Amino acid sequence: MGTNFSDVVRDDPTNNVPDTIFSKLGLQLHRRNNHPLGILKNGIYEYFDTNFPNMFHKFDDLCPVVSVKQNFDDVLVPADHVSRSYNDTYYVDSQTVLRCHTSAHQAELLRRGHTHFLVTGDVYRRDSIDSTHYPVFHQMEGVRVFTPDNWEASGLDPTSYAAEDLKKSLEGLARHLFGAVEMRWIDAYFPFTNPSYELEIYFQGKWMEVLGCGVMEQEILKISGRSNSVAWAFGLGLERLAMVLFDIPDIRLFWSTDERFTSQFSEGQMGVKFKPFSKYPPCYKDMSFWINDSFTENNLCEVIRGIAGDLIEEVSLIDNFTNKKGMTSHCYRIAYRSMERSLTDEEINDLQWQVREQVQNKLNVVLR
Ligand code: PHE
Repeated sequence: MGTNFSDVVRDDPTNNVPDTIFSKLGLQLHRRNNHPLGILKNGIYEYFDTNFPNMFHKFDDLCPVVSVKQNFDDVLVPADHVSRSYNDTYYVDSQTVLRCHTSAHQAELLRRGHTHFLVTGDVYRRDSIDSTHYPVFHQMEGVRVFTPDNWEASGLDPTSYAAEDLKKSLEGLARHLFGAVEMRWIDAYFPFTNPSYELEIYFQGKWMEVLGCGVMEQEILKISGRSNSVAWAFGLGLERLAMVLFDIPDIRLFWSTDERFTSQFSEGQMGVKFKPFSKYPPCYKDMSFWINDSFTENNLCEVIRGIAGDLIEEVSLIDNFTNKKGMTSHCYRIAYRSMERSLTDEEINDLQWQVREQVQNKLNVVLR
């Protein structure tokens, strides 16, 4: 499973998956043992294997093309939640998406009888562009189910029992990855857990979010045939953690095939600090236009990325005003930079020319 996507039909009128994104399907960076994401995944496995021997079943090859039901309905995401919009999620057709989180597999695995599992995979979100955001990234999901004999002896109610076990387990994971760090729990909201929390650690001088988690909504257990149970679930972003553990300054580097990047990492070497190789200079281009009501920054970034791909380092709004007639103008600064070579003026001018052309034609905005 997971490597042949040639049978995915993409001509549906509702399809909003560009080729640049489609081409990432099947790359599975998290399954490369010499890649920082694979090294981190294995480091997390090691924590669970040591502390919960033979308990957690591991999945890292589940297909990222899932149904709307799996991605949203099964985990109780409300019908009007923004994450369901075409602006935020990649739709293959009206009933099929590229999963936007590994939670898409919770209900299915519970239904198949699994009670302790870790799911690692590539996830897809339409987003703006900067050094920490890329429309494809990787998550690991963890789920643990308890039955009455687990909590009855504890004197706690099932929810408190699960919440306590969750916090203890994840604090242990954070210590395994980051050493003796200060931690704090923040109340959060997710449609699929209640109560919900985020774990933050104090690292390199600031509080950093490590993961989201909580006690699974009873409804999910019920529709998955586990009414008499209680469970916890967590989800963490591998890139975010790998960037701090390995000192990787730009999220695009995870996709680099440049040997100066790939040769710095090897199996089992958790947290080896990345040594930046010479950075080539960026080139900035500004463009201004009058926006319309349907304009979104995600759509803009998608058009730009469709033309210049990974040469785009950042797209930032640098000016925004509304005139007396009520027309709103945005000025965006586009930073072009290659990780691998110097870009020529000619090449950048050509890209920028295409960007202007397509932004105007595809987004129906008026260039100024
Ligand atoms: N799916 C959530 C996200 O992508 C993370 C999460 C998983 C939170 C499981 C709670 C429980 O942000």
